[in-house]
Amino acid sequence: MEAPNPFTPSFGRIPAHFAGRGSLLTAMAKALADEGRTSPDLVTMLVGPRGTGKTALLGSIGQEATAHGWIVAQVTANDGMLVDVIERLQEAAADLIDPSTPTRIKSLSIGSNFAVEFDQGTPYAGNWRTQMNRLFAQLEPYGSGILITVDEVQRNCAELETLTQAFQHFLTEGEPAALVMAGLPSEVSAMVSSKIVSFLRRARHRHIGRIGNADVEVALRKTLADEGATINEDAMAAAVAAIDGFPYMLQLVGYWMWEESLASPIALEDAQRGIRLATNELRDGVLAATYRELSNGDLRFLEAMLPDEGPSTLADIAKRMGGAEQLRLEVQEAPHRSWRGRRCGPKPLHR
Ligand SMILES: Nc1ncnc2c1ncn2[C@@H]1O[C@H](COP(=O)(O)OP(=O)(O)OP(=O)(O)O)[C@@H](O)[C@H]1O
Ligand SMILES: [Mg+2]
Repeated sequence: MEAPNPFTPSFGRIPAHFAGRGSLLTAMAKALADEGRTSPDLVTMLVGPRGTGKTALLGSIGQEATAHGWIVAQVTANDGMLVDVIERLQEAAADLIDPSTPTRIKSLSIGSNFAVEFDQGTPYAGNWRTQMNRLFAQLEPYGSGILITVDEVQRNCAELETLTQAFQHFLTEGEPAALVMAGLPSEVSAMVSSKIVSFLRRARHRHIGRIGNADVEVALRKTLADEGATINEDAMAAAVAAIDGFPYMLQLVGYWMWEESLASPIALEDAQRGIRLATNELRDGVLAATYRELSNGDLRFLEAMLPDEGPSTLADIAKRMGGAEQLRLEVQEAPHRSWRGRRCGPKPLHR
């Protein structure tokens, strides 16, 4: 169609209309709007497989927070993320605080009285928690809270551990702080079970999964309507079936249906061509990359599930894999072999 394509089939993009996720976004908006800042939703972990919309949700929550006067830093778990948080916060609060004149402690003498002399000019950085405390203090007169969002959380990330430990102190000390994180289920569960960040076990965990067909349909219709387009009912039914509740596929199917249609309403034949193109892109992009990330143990486990039409039981899988002992060994092997030994940083990407 002539009009600009309103679908967003690229990772991390906030969709024109979120399918589903209404209760999550409403709860977050309410928590961010509440001046008491005591909602448990202010420490949230979004957990979901690839392409379910974690990054898009973080982006949307960040925008909502900014609209409510929060100072927001959106970062990805990585070596260097702590510096990134400070710099993003300073950037976001540029019109409230002046980062060029941080305070340096010139001398500290300890006698009968504590005396601290300050020197303006040369930056005294202090550790990350100190720098954050200074930002909280600078923002206090304005009543602004700080929201940090961390995408792609992963196990064994030293800076992420520092951040979460310090964050626990911010909450205890009554600072106006919020933390929303997102990650793949395997990484989140490995991270949360580590002793160092046990505080995250108490975070509100939101599982980001499949979206219901009715919500998929509403989002498709609204996105088309943004550009004044509609779709025939048989074409809509085919699209909803192909999308099967997967947010990324919603964008791919919508995008390619749009590209394959000459005029509105979208007809069944155009939808079917679009669905074929979308399916190919999903297979070559996400599915192939996800498959490559699996360890040999993961693959043997999945093969053992294939004979089942519905959900598999562990007992059946164990039998097919050669007994419970073998299963135990395979499960132990599971921690994503392909990532082992990597420094904390972005995972191999599919895009
Ligand atoms: N609720 C939704 N409704 C419609 N489209 C969505 C929804 N959530 C995400 N999308 C779209 O799906 C695609 C994938 O979203 P996103 O990149 O946020 O997924 P992700 O979970 O972060 O994936 P990954 O784990 O690979 O980083 C994007 O094109 C985004 O615009
Ligand atoms: Mg993402």
